[in-house]
Amino acid sequence: MYSEKVMDHFQNPRNMGEIENASGVGTVGNAKCGDIMRMYLDIDDNGIIQDVKFKTFGCGAAVATSSMATELVKGKNIQEALQVTNKAVMEALDGLPPVKVHCSLLAEEAIHAALWDYAQKHGIEIEGLKKPKSDIHEGEEDETEEY
Ligand code: FES
Repeated sequence: MYSEKVMDHFQNPRNMGEIENASGVGTVGNAKCGDIMRMYLDIDDNGIIQDVKFKTFGCGAAVATSSMATELVKGKNIQEALQVTNKAVMEALDGLPPVKVHCSLLAEEAIHAALWDYAQKHGIEIEGLKKPKSDIHEGEEDETEEY
């Protein structure tokens, strides 16, 4: 049911932990499944993401998508990090079962939330970044049959 990459990132998550005095921290959850993801970004003066860590209290796919998302944004600039959508994360993991797609949304939204926090702290606006939701279930299409 899961690709080898998903299993690998679930069993050996990359960049797990936290960054003290991070440039930006974002926490998002999904009230429906109860999972929570927190992303920490360390962004230098040139806007490059030097380090990224995550903490995820959630399902295996949430751990795997957070891990892959951190790998995809590390070393990138802010605009490039914004391109790391949940689709990009899923593709990098060779796909996810349909009922687990929302887990990858949590990863995308956690990155956005951390970037939003960074922008707020620095009094800047990041082009193309909208205020993230703290609960990704808000406004989500109904997928009740999967629970
Ligand atoms: Fe909710 Fe995976 S089941 S994040």
